[in-house]
Amino acid sequence: MKVTSPDSLVARAGHRIDRVVYTAEQIDARVREMGAEISEAYEGTDDLLVLGLLKGSFIFLADLVRYIQIPLHVDFLVASSYGNAKVSSGKVSLVYDASASLKGRSVVLVEDIVDSGNTIARLLPELEARGPKSLEVCALLHKRLTKLPWEPRWVGFDCPEDFLVGYGLDYSENFRHLPFIVSLAED
Ligand code: PRP
Repeated sequence: MKVTSPDSLVARAGHRIDRVVYTAEQIDARVREMGAEISEAYEGTDDLLVLGLLKGSFIFLADLVRYIQIPLHVDFLVASSYGNAKVSSGKVSLVYDASASLKGRSVVLVEDIVDSGNTIARLLPELEARGPKSLEVCALLHKRLTKLPWEPRWVGFDCPEDFLVGYGLDYSENFRHLPFIVSLAED
């Protein structure tokens, strides 16, 4: 099979990579650590529900749960706020809800990135109202733009403010499948 370079892959969608921010190896090492930390935090519980916030978290969640060494269930929510834009519209809509009940369970909401924080701010009260035993957020990336009224319990990396794509993160639905995270050069 012919190997396509990341640069040419991104160029085919009309963009340029500014720099590789996290390599696949760096991500894997950190996700492995996070999986171990979550396993330790919930050791002895048998009600863990890992709730992936789609679409951005799909790769992170798939890797993370394979590093969690205790029983768990997986379900998903789909929220959307960015559409095809680079800046959040501020209006977060829940376009698909989980079928699993959260009541009385230990719930970990998995996010790919906390940017403005709007998505989580909108979703957490709604999930809390469902009566989970506990509700925590696990985010791979956090931009730390402002002080938030809540903070994720687990964060993979405090990331730069650049527009990041890859490992689930997109620009106009492109680049989610890159195995690493890059920043895009300005147009
Ligand atoms: C992105 C990303 C996070 C959210 C973070 O989702 O996946 O869920 O924005 O931004 P915020 O902290 O400013 O709210 P998006 O709404 O673009 O949908 P996607 O997951 O399908 O890419």
